[in-house]
Amino acid sequence: MTETTFTPRVFSGIQPSGGLTLGNYLGAIKRFVTMQDEVAESIYCMVDLHAITVWQDPKALQHNTRELAAGFIASGISPEKSILINQSQVPEHAQLGWIFNCVARMGWMQRMTQFKDKAGKNSQAASLGLFGYPALMAADILVYHATHVPVGDDQKQHLELTRDIAAKFNHDYGVDFFPMTEPVIEGAATRVMSLRDGSKKMSKSDPSDASRINMTDNADTIAKKIRKAKSDADALPSEVKGLEDRPEARNLINIYASMADMTVDQVLANVGGKQFGEFKPMLADLAVAKLSPISGEMARLMSDPAEIDRILAKGALQAREITAPILQKTYDIVGMVRPAI
Ligand code: TYM
Repeated sequence: MTETTFTPRVFSGIQPSGGLTLGNYLGAIKRFVTMQDEVAESIYCMVDLHAITVWQDPKALQHNTRELAAGFIASGISPEKSILINQSQVPEHAQLGWIFNCVARMGWMQRMTQFKDKAGKNSQAASLGLFGYPALMAADILVYHATHVPVGDDQKQHLELTRDIAAKFNHDYGVDFFPMTEPVIEGAATRVMSLRDGSKKMSKSDPSDASRINMTDNADTIAKKIRKAKSDADALPSEVKGLEDRPEARNLINIYASMADMTVDQVLANVGGKQFGEFKPMLADLAVAKLSPISGEMARLMSDPAEIDRILAKGALQAREITAPILQKTYDIVGMVRPAI
């Protein structure tokens, strides 16, 4: 088998299952924005089909999908440079997802920590879709032959599975058709933690609103949540080593570094020796300066939902120019009969 060279193409997705958090922004969207200028083609997706693996109120799902699109655009993703879509408007995702349901093995899915976390104790009551979730995610990526996928740290296992599915498909059918996608997990904030508990991931599903910063929070709320964020009584260290066993301090420093586009070392060189009473207002000012323009722009975009819908419809047409031929070729490889074109 000869090694095929795949043209660099970026794909990533976010679930419209609630508001956007600072974790989504720093772990994913901020990187999407830089990557759209680094690679010729980038596709960013609101994964509405993934969202319904757990119950979503239909009206809220529509609202959240448009708000997520607004969040992407307000953060700097340009519909002129990137293809912006919601997953359900590009049917090839679900079609390839079915093929991958037949490639992936039960045992692989049973090892997925996100399934275990989300299904909780009563996994028998979880939807079949939640179990098969990673096969659809592999299809999202591979239906574009995407080579690079920027994500936060929590998606690493799903991306390993995507490579396993690609490898098994290629092996079973004796082809070199799907690429080995590279995860892009980079920067100071690949795992933003809860503001109330440095051992838990910041998440839109945490019952405590104080645990996260929402991208729709206003300046006062952002400042208040940072002021109240859990910290400790010691002064900040001047070197990274000093953050060991101080999860809350490390989290706040990582957030600062990511928002200021600095390394953790650079931040500590500036703030080492300061108490949280001094550092938290600095962090709050930075967060407000970076996030308020985004939430303002999101609100402006949300006042014209029809324009958002037009952008997503155009994105779907562009996307299908890539996905339709890849799906057809997949069907040929698998042996599905269809009319000759
Ligand atoms: P989702 O919707 O949970 O999160 C979207 C992106 O945000 C990142 N993220 C975080 N990063 C740092 N710190 C946090 N606290 C934090 N919380 C969330 C996630 O790592 C992710 O990059 N399965 C995916 C959605 C998906 C997808 C895809 C992603 C479906 N198909 C194809 C990439 C490619 C998910 O649930 O992300």
